[in-house]
This record gives sequence, C-alpha cells and structure tokens, in this order.
Amino acid sequence: MNIVETIQEVRQIVGEWKKKGLTVGLVPTMGYLHEGHASLIEQAAKQNDKVIVSVFVNPTQFGVNEDLDSYPRDLQHDVKICEQAGGDCIFHPEPEEMYPQGFCSFVDMDVLTKELCGITRPTHFRGVCTVVNKLFNIVMPDRAYFGEKDAQQLAVIRRMVKDLNIPIEIIGCPIIREPDGLAKSSRNTYLSPEERKAALVLYKSISAGKQLVSSGEKRAEIIIQKMTEILTAEPLARIDYVKIVDAETMQPISEIDRPYLAAIAVYIGKTRLIDNFS
Ligand code: PAJ
Repeated sequence: MNIVETIQEVRQIVGEWKKKGLTVGLVPTMGYLHEGHASLIEQAAKQNDKVIVSVFVNPTQFGVNEDLDSYPRDLQHDVKICEQAGGDCIFHPEPEEMYPQGFCSFVDMDVLTKELCGITRPTHFRGVCTVVNKLFNIVMPDRAYFGEKDAQQLAVIRRMVKDLNIPIEIIGCPIIREPDGLAKSSRNTYLSPEERKAALVLYKSISAGKQLVSSGEKRAEIIIQKMTEILTAEPLARIDYVKIVDAETMQPISEIDRPYLAAIAVYIGKTRLIDNFS
C-alpha cells in the first residue's frame, strides 16, 4: 500500500498507471474508515484497475461550531481497511497541502445545497464541492464513488459534475448498516452506550416510512408525520429535519409521484446523525 501526502506524488503515481492504460477509481473519505467506506473501495476495485482512497478531514466543510477538532482520526487503521478492501494508494494530505496560504477559490452551488442539511449547515456543501473538485483535478480518475448514506452530497456531486462538465463517472453505493440497523458512520463513535441505543430510533423511523411507501401511501405529509412521531417518542432525540424531496433537485414534494428521497437528520445528545431511504 502506497501512502502519499503530496499532490505531486499522487499525480506521479496516477500518471504511471495511465501511461500503462490502467483505469483509476477514486474514493474520497475523511478517514476513520468502517465497512461503509470499505464497500465503496470494494466496488471501486471491481470496476477499475487501480483505486486511490483519499483520507482528508476537510476543514472547509465544517461550520465554526462543528466537530473539526474532535473528528476521529486513525490512519493506521485506515490503511488496514483500505488494504483489505482492495485499495492501492492512500492520499493523505495535510491541510496546508490542500489549502496553502492565499487560497481563496471555492466551488459553490445554488438550489440543491439550500435544502435539508444545507439549512443547518449553510457552508458545508461549498466545502464539499471545493474539496471534491480539487481531488478530481488532482487524481483525474475515471470513476469516483460516493455513499447513498449522504444522499444529498451524492446528488450535489452529480449536479456539479454535470454543470461543470467534469469527465468523471459518479457511482452511488448503498447504505451499509450495523446489524441492528443503525447506518455506519464515523460519528457513531461519539455516542455513549445509552445514546447508541437511542440512535436506533433513526432506523425505526426510516423503516416505518419505507413500509408506508411500500403499502402504497403517496402523501408526503402522512409519511413525514409517522416518521416524526417515532422520533419524537425517543427522549434523547432532537429532530433537525424530516423531509421528502425530489431525488434530483432536493426540493420538497407533497406527493410521491417521481423519484424521491426521504431524509432525516436527528441530534442524539450532541451528535447529529443522518439517514434516508429512496
Ligand atoms: P466521509 O463521511 O468519510 O464519507 C466518505 C464516503 O463514504 C461518502 O461518500 C459517504 O457517503 C460514504 N459512507 C459513509 N458511511 C457510509 C455507509 N454507512 N454506507 C455507505 N456509504 C457510506 O462524505 C465525506 O466523508 C466527505 O464529505 C467527503 C466526500 C470525503 C469530502 O470531504
């Protein structure tokens, strides 16, 4: 496993692969890898000759009062997971490598980023779009892999690639869950044992919503009401949002009459967790 910290090194490695005619998959991550990330790396390894995994806790996507400093980090563990899943190289830059002094260019997006997580985290997607764009320009992969766990992020990246004519295929990968249903997340490590139990309420709410839709319910209001009811019954949970939106535009819909995304964000204690179904 090659672990590199500079843009120059990663470009050189990819350059050599490309000279040999090999295809390259990129899996952008913030590290502290778990089975969710591993599933993306495995998928990338299946579809490409070589796989680069970036491990970078991107400061520009965290708000001022968010968890940038406390975000969990463990590169040795990441190397192991990456190796097992079939990654070939880890790109692990320092913040100064990605954002040298004087950095002042950002990729911003309207509409899609103003809904759901964009309401509580107004600068988040600007940071995500900027860093992902930089990673795309640095690695120039054939394909890039993103999880449906962060469904709005996936929709935003798809839009960015379309709008800015970026010649990279975006592959979405399904949500990987704990055996009891909680969606895997690096942030689950923040939960106390009591909060971990309470966090199951997200999956209960998602499952109930899904079931209503499968039974033919089309009214967003009814589905949202049921999902909210379940979340409200958990004393440790505080709802940020429960919404049903158009899968492409992220704009709220009142009727399930097109591809949709039902998404929730819930604070369990101080930890903000997200989940969705579509
Ligand atoms: P991070 O939270 O580390 O997630 C990296 C990728 O793993 C994302 O595409 C995310 O959707 C996916 N992922 C996380 N948990 C998952 C799960 N349980 N099942 C399936 N996929 C899962 O998302 C980011 O980092 C950053 O915003 C990033 C795109 C790297 C930009 O900094």
